[in-house]
Amino acid sequence: MESTTPPASPATPPLVTLRNVSKRFANGTLALQGMSLDIGEHDFISFLGPSGCGKSTALRLIAGLTRLSSGEMHWSGANTGQTRSDRELGFVFQEPTLMPWAKVFDNVWLPLKLAGNSRDAAAPVVQQALEMVGLSRFADVYPRELSGGMKMRVSIARALVTHPRLLLMDEPFAALDEMTRIKLNNDLLAIWREHRFSVVFVTHSVYESVYLSNRIVVMAARPGRVIDEIRIDEPYPRGEEFRTSSRYNAHCTAVSQSLHGALHGIDIDH
Ligand SMILES: Nc1ncnc2c1ncn2[C@@H]1O[C@H](COP(=O)(O)OP(=O)(O)OP(=O)(O)O)[C@@H](O)[C@H]1O
Ligand SMILES: [Mg+2]
Repeated sequence: MESTTPPASPATPPLVTLRNVSKRFANGTLALQGMSLDIGEHDFISFLGPSGCGKSTALRLIAGLTRLSSGEMHWSGANTGQTRSDRELGFVFQEPTLMPWAKVFDNVWLPLKLAGNSRDAAAPVVQQALEMVGLSRFADVYPRELSGGMKMRVSIARALVTHPRLLLMDEPFAALDEMTRIKLNNDLLAIWREHRFSVVFVTHSVYESVYLSNRIVVMAARPGRVIDEIRIDEPYPRGEEFRTSSRYNAHCTAVSQSLHGALHGIDIDH
């Protein structure tokens, strides 16, 4: 089996840099405090932590959907603070958020349509994106005809149709059954390896984060903050052999212990 070492060579500049980034909402909640992070080219980073630790807030800050309160964020190639092109990132939410009245094709076409591409002009790229997620035969069906896992695949195709450099995913597989989730984990890794974008993936699952990531950012709540970063220095591709290995178990134990520290921190604070 072909094997590669984990990515993120320090020689290439990071895609996105966060320095001491904080977010306080208007109601006074400090959702994120002093987060510093370099998102490298072709990193697969998971944000792992208990509810309310600022995972979604951090993702939305990176996406430019929320303004940071203090600190700095920089996209490589951009001159100033938060400047970046919408096409440089794709966002996948926990709910597939598809338009129920539009066919699969039209749902995936949407970002290109918004960028001014006609249906005909976009067709080859939309088909490619559907092929990527294994849904090339489903372009003409409506979302209601699809299973939960297939809807999520459409959502991933829509996020990738612009060939973003960074894919942000907020608990994308949390609502899926275990078997579907494992399949989507494997397919996501295969797509990521082939197309070489970077991923920031939010999850509550230690097992999922270890399986997928080369880096895990462990976070704690009240205030939301980073308490640890753990590297999973294991080669890709990762499959059943890795999932059932003692090394995988050892990583899961280490990450669980770190996460326990995150939860323990809350107990001390309150
Ligand atoms: N728009 C908002 N206005 C005020 N407070 C908010 C807002 N959005 C989030 N918060 C608060 O900020 C903190 C972090 O929220 P966030 O949604 O980022 O956490 P999370 O780690 O994604 O949690 P979960 O795992 O439940 O999704 C929480 O205390 C939350 O209540
Ligand atoms: Mg969240």
